[in-house]
Amino acid sequence: MPDQRPPVRVGVLISGRGSNMMSLVEQADGYQVVLVASDRPDAAGLNWAADRGIPTFALSPKEIGKPAYEAAVLDRLTKHGAQVVALAGYMRLLSSGFIDAYRGNIVNIHPSLLPLYKGLDTHARAIAAGDAQAGCSVHLVTEELDAGEVLGQAHVPVEPGDTPDSLAARVLAAEHDLYPRILSEFCRR
Ligand code: GRF
Repeated sequence: MPDQRPPVRVGVLISGRGSNMMSLVEQADGYQVVLVASDRPDAAGLNWAADRGIPTFALSPKEIGKPAYEAAVLDRLTKHGAQVVALAGYMRLLSSGFIDAYRGNIVNIHPSLLPLYKGLDTHARAIAAGDAQAGCSVHLVTEELDAGEVLGQAHVPVEPGDTPDSLAARVLAAEHDLYPRILSEFCRR
């Protein structure tokens, strides 16, 4: 029998380009992106979302401090009825207070095969280690950086002569397939 439940309302947080957010919007199945918010008012993804009629919100924590910034984002998520928060290239650590408001319902995509290479420079570290495989992980967000339960992973090969940029491009293509698929499964759980 087809799933009759209404789509789960998802708020997406970005900091820049927003290509993962775009793939979440374009491949939405079982969920609906109801808000795209950014800590950087110049994030390129905001215009893309606004052009598609998706509500956007931008505020820099530099202007008002992290607590007030997070309160404003939470307020906006609530106003749009977001049930799940998807981080997509969002470059800030969330406070416990924010995480508590959506505990168990915040997901992120990270460009490594977690638990390997938490944090930044994942591709350079995979190449330096001589790994044959790289990839990406969708995981639950907790207070600990890139350490929450892994919900799904995709593997790509590391090719001879790969640079961090060439590997990043291969992993990014895998991210664009993995994230919507896992978010869809997560929202149907
Ligand atoms: C992606 O590789 C994501 O995994 C990482 O930062 C990059 C963001 O790219 N956290 P985009 O903004 O989604 O294009």
